[in-house]
Amino acid sequence: MTTPITAAGSAAELTDDELMAAYAWDAPAGEPVRPHLRFNFVASADGAAAIDGRSGALGDGADHRVFELLRRTCDVILVGAGTVRAEGYAGALLGTESQAWRTGHGMPAHPGFALVSGTLNLDPDSPLFEQAPVRPLILTAATAPADRRAALERVGDVVVAGERTVEPEAAAAVLAQHGFQRVLSEGGPRLFGSFQTAGLVDDLCLTVSPLMAAGSALRITAGAPEAVPPRRLELAHVLRGGDTLLLRYRRPAGRNPEEAQTSSSPSATT
Ligand SMILES: NC(=O)c1ccc[n+]([C@@H]2O[C@H](COP(=O)([O-])OP(=O)(O)OC[C@H]3O[C@@H](n4cnc5c(N)ncnc54)[C@H](OP(=O)(O)O)[C@@H]3O)[C@@H](O)[C@H]2O)c1
Repeated sequence: MTTPITAAGSAAELTDDELMAAYAWDAPAGEPVRPHLRFNFVASADGAAAIDGRSGALGDGADHRVFELLRRTCDVILVGAGTVRAEGYAGALLGTESQAWRTGHGMPAHPGFALVSGTLNLDPDSPLFEQAPVRPLILTAATAPADRRAALERVGDVVVAGERTVEPEAAAAVLAQHGFQRVLSEGGPRLFGSFQTAGLVDDLCLTVSPLMAAGSALRITAGAPEAVPPRRLELAHVLRGGDTLLLRYRRPAGRNPEEAQTSSSPSATT
């Protein structure tokens, strides 16, 4: 049975088509045209991005429904190697209904799959690669060990997109060259941190789970050694599925990343 989702303040249950419309992909402004970069996360009400090292316990039926619909309409799923190692991605990442929807809309049955790893510490014989419905794109740095790169080239397309780390701008350019315009990143926190630092987050889909996790769990963003000032987001919608909130934030329209910085950031005048 489908988990009911409504707009906040409304009792009308949203259909899948209405949900997909609520999560429509906006074309990023400016030149050159680059892919739309959307990040999707779930967090507890007290900000935890994982419980016991994984995100599974944070999601519920409403989160899973939106998670699947976001995958349904994207060109490529982008994940960091830490998320792959923790969450064990393998096999088809979409249900048969979503695959049929895609082919019915002139899209390939499966979205592309791109993963980001600086070290290439990935097992080419793992189910991720053995069961992949499409050949993965592996974005790495020039400093990645040559032997690991050679091993992974058997099972995926390995592309260098940065010297010591994967540079988000270079990664976005590689994704565009592969024909991927609607990029859905499912994290994790360090990948998100690097894209935030680069000012390349167009859209943040955030499920707030009605749970408190306590402890010192990680947040949805991490890393980012060269901290940037907080950036303001525009709230695109608030949906709810029972006690779960499904928020969509996006980059404020018509403003560049610097203009979008929050005016409430600490000033340097003291
Ligand atoms: N709540 C949620 O929605 C959600 C979503 C995703 C993940 N998670 C949780 O987050 C945790 C994993 O966190 P994480 O920060 O390790 O995840 P992550 O960002 O997926 O993985 C970090 C790793 O990805 C690679 N990476 C990311 N950005 C890079 C860059 N710019 N350049 C080069 N390599 C880059 C590196 O891999 P190498 O080490 O191979 O170089 C790095 O160690 C898990 O507990 C997972 O369950 C939660």
